[in-house]
Amino acid sequence: MSELEHLLESNKRWAKEQLGKKPDFFSELSQQQAPEYLWIGCSDSRVPANQITGLPPGEVFVHRNIANVVVHSDLNCLSVVQYAVEVLKVKHIIVCGHYGCGGVKAAMENKEHGLIDNWLRHIRDVYRFYRSEIDSCTGEEAQLDRLCEKNVVEQAFNICSSTVVQNAWNKGSELSVHGWIYAVKDGLLRDLEVSMAGLADFEKASK
Ligand code: CO
Repeated sequence: MSELEHLLESNKRWAKEQLGKKPDFFSELSQQQAPEYLWIGCSDSRVPANQITGLPPGEVFVHRNIANVVVHSDLNCLSVVQYAVEVLKVKHIIVCGHYGCGGVKAAMENKEHGLIDNWLRHIRDVYRFYRSEIDSCTGEEAQLDRLCEKNVVEQAFNICSSTVVQNAWNKGSELSVHGWIYAVKDGLLRDLEVSMAGLADFEKASK
């Protein structure tokens, strides 16, 4: 028996349960996906997009990487954004970070972590940008949490300045970008209130 047999068994139970609730669940889903949301979050196993938002399969398009970073030249992330905006026509892009993020913590440290340090440099840039505000927080945990918040805000700006989102707004598409943060400690999401619904919002917020 495979070591992963329990996962395959659990999948069978799950599929059966779904059919019990809605017999045409999978046949309907197999026809199309029409999610309204694109989620850009951290790869952290404790922050699964569908589960924490209570959304079933088919309702949220997801991209996750270490520390929910949106890099202007990351073809992987940009391809996800393009497909979500131009083909699926999602109405909301949610950049979601989380408190206590290991990637953000590593970016603040002066330790070597290997290849990943190159990825974390992007967060180090955010740290440098907000250094005085972050350093004025009392205690390491508060400083880390503030950088986790600022990282979400900056990545939301990066999404907004991508050609995909700029083009969508220029065409008048209904598309909003939001910044949220999740606390593993209490299971709750918080809106960082940096939502931008068009070029005017973006220009005002980025001044
Ligand atoms: Co994380």
